[in-house]
Amino acid sequence: MHGSCDIGIIGMAVMGQNLALNIARKGFQVAVFNRTASRTDELMKRVEKESIVPTYTLKEFVASLKKPRKAMLMVKAGAAVDEFIDKLLELLEPGDLIIDGGNSFYQDTERRIKKVEKQGLLFLGTGISGGEYGALHGPSIMPGGHEEGYALVKEIFEKAAAQVEDGPCCTYLGPRSAGHFVKMVHNGIEYAFMQAIAEAYDLLRKAYRLSSEAIGKIFEEFNQSEIASYLIEITAKIFKVSDPETRKPLVELILDQAEQKGTGKWTSQTAFDFGVPTPVINQSVIARTISSFKQERVQFASLWKNKEAAPINFDEQHKEKIKDALFVSMVVAFSEGLHLLKVASQEMQYGLSLPEVVRIWKGGCILRARMLNQIQQALQNGEGEILLFSPTFLNEIQRRTPKLREIVALSIEKEIPASVLSTSLAYLDSWKSENLPANLIQAQRDFFGAHTYQRVDKEGVFHTIWEE
Ligand code: ATR
Repeated sequence: MHGSCDIGIIGMAVMGQNLALNIARKGFQVAVFNRTASRTDELMKRVEKESIVPTYTLKEFVASLKKPRKAMLMVKAGAAVDEFIDKLLELLEPGDLIIDGGNSFYQDTERRIKKVEKQGLLFLGTGISGGEYGALHGPSIMPGGHEEGYALVKEIFEKAAAQVEDGPCCTYLGPRSAGHFVKMVHNGIEYAFMQAIAEAYDLLRKAYRLSSEAIGKIFEEFNQSEIASYLIEITAKIFKVSDPETRKPLVELILDQAEQKGTGKWTSQTAFDFGVPTPVINQSVIARTISSFKQERVQFASLWKNKEAAPINFDEQHKEKIKDALFVSMVVAFSEGLHLLKVASQEMQYGLSLPEVVRIWKGGCILRARMLNQIQQALQNGEGEILLFSPTFLNEIQRRTPKLREIVALSIEKEIPASVLSTSLAYLDSWKSENLPANLIQAQRDFFGAHTYQRVDKEGVFHTIWEE
């Protein structure tokens, strides 16, 4: 079998195994390797007619690959990626390609690509979204790095990716860390969607006291509307699952502590670095962090002595309001993420095509949503630097924002935290404010630090002795 594999994949955890099977089912021969051999054996038990070659040493793995060799890492982001790159560099030859398909931080990818190209090899930092199912049946693939490297795997990636009406959900995004940057922002937007949906759920169960079953039906309806999306779809499905032991809805038995692997936090940190406001994404990271303080919240709740408010009757109008609130929050999250991509593309010289980014998010990935068709159209029409400003969305948002305002007011009145929904509103209110109170900030800065200020009525830079 030596030297016959079209591609090799290292890392046989959930994503790696499923991607290997997916690629093999598209007619390619795939070599696989995992640090712990039992995982490779686990995959081989799932193999039917596909052509997968198990290898148990990296030497054997490399020897099984057709030249120029294509070695893809699907290992835990961080040190494991560096370890494998170092080992592969000893075994591969100039012209071979290393692909990192994990959720690596884009600055790590910048560093790694320099190291790899110094030795005459090619590198692709590739974001892959779609979870377990997507990896097997067609994910959204976001490659960036050496374009010559992409040419080597284009056919494999494009066949393995999800397919939408305007092509495969995979395209070469740009040089160096462009792919991992886009994937990071994808995940930041994903955090915001998830939190907005969770807040809608919280209102439905606490303000209206709806059962999980009823909430599931509402999300099922939402999934037939303009907010139809993968995350709404799985939310509806989650409410249908009951715990076999207690027969209660399983979601009610899950501890309310959200975990995170870092991509949302990186998006926020990076947005601060590039000077792009992404408050909704930031707030969704904060909401997960607050949730992690379960014990403290339980303690504080007992000190506060919460009183339960009387439930409100739920009707069609309320349902529409919640749907509109979610719509606005989703558009705001996309707008923030695309704004960050736009600025980063200039600063990092990625040359990103935002309509293409949105196109490859239309299938396979966690963010896939009906509204991406409209977003793609707006971007193709060049409608404004920021999505919110596009004529396509301006009217839609303006019409729905009063409903978001009502939902946020309800959350405040009922003392139910809805920080992403309310941040969406504050973000919109800030953008539409011709005058913000930053004049006072400037005065304060000038007062204590002589930082100077500009005036609205004449040109120049001014400083005042505010107090003798
Ligand atoms: P998941 O898809 O389950 O989220 P992950 O945590 O991102 O997976 O990655 C796990 C993979 O990275 C596994 O293949 C793991 O190898 P083992 O099965 O041997 O644990 C691999 N991995 C993690 N750290 C590693 C390291 N330091 N060296 C080599 N492989 C490593």
